[in-house]
Amino acid sequence: MNQQGDNAPILDVKALHIRYGAFEAVKDVSFDVYGGEIFGLLGPNGAGKTSTLSAIEGLLKPVSGQITVAGFNTREKPLHARANMGVQLQATSFQPELTIGEIIRLFASIYGVELGEDTIREKLAAINLEDAAGKKIAQLSGGQQQRVSLLISTIHHPQLVLLDEPTTGLDPQSRRQLWERIEYFRNNGHAVLLTTHSMEEAEAVCDRIAIIDHGRIIAIDTPAALIEKHLHDPEVLKVVRKGKVTLEDVFIGLTGTAVRS
Ligand SMILES: Nc1ncnc2c1ncn2[C@@H]1O[C@H](COP(=O)(O)OP(=O)(O)OP(=O)(O)O)[C@@H](O)[C@H]1O
Ligand SMILES: [Mg+2]
Repeated sequence: MNQQGDNAPILDVKALHIRYGAFEAVKDVSFDVYGGEIFGLLGPNGAGKTSTLSAIEGLLKPVSGQITVAGFNTREKPLHARANMGVQLQATSFQPELTIGEIIRLFASIYGVELGEDTIREKLAAINLEDAAGKKIAQLSGGQQQRVSLLISTIHHPQLVLLDEPTTGLDPQSRRQLWERIEYFRNNGHAVLLTTHSMEEAEAVCDRIAIIDHGRIIAIDTPAALIEKHLHDPEVLKVVRKGKVTLEDVFIGLTGTAVRS
């Protein structure tokens, strides 16, 4: 399915523009994500993160720009592009009357993947839910639901994994477990694009991040390099909360202190 060379990014977004009516939500956004990389899209509320993801997923038609997934242009080859991406669904969108085992088998069959009972149990065991196959989704905690949701959305081993705020609302234990799953994909050569409001999460798991504000990317780098770049920059670091400069100090410095509507 892959049409790329070895060194090509799995996701390539070029000069993306998205509009809702007259409102320009995403302006000239370009970035790429490679296999074996976790890329974080960070930005205040309304910055354009979900809109960007929706365009990659093919749910929203951009005004202009080019998106390539595993070598397939999402406009010219939408089905090929879709087959190479896994999009985390909200647990609430799963059929409540089915057991988790049945839901997994259903989604697998949609993607043409055949899974026996044993394989399903193994896959659930890998996310510490060995006894969940016979349960309904509503019987799981939020963190457990998130893990099942990630398992289902990646059942076809997509090259690109897209996660919109995957750890929002999770306790530290559940969040760490999900981070491990996300790192598992990275370590197996997948490309992961996630959004987050947690600077701690970005520092902990993202190899590179882009900061997006008012629809524009204002910085792309590794978290460490972004901090290093502004370490002695009083224009950016107007407030340092805790002695040591954090990614959050840099983020606030670059995007401002005003709360977005
Ligand atoms: N369907 C829509 N119709 C009109 N405007 C929209 C629509 N969806 C999003 N917007 C606007 O586009 C901008 C970007 O929204 P988007 O959801 O992409 O932001 P976000 O970065 O994901 O924010 P958050 O961190 O709050 O999830 C916002 O100003 C939002 O109000
Ligand atoms: Mg969003």
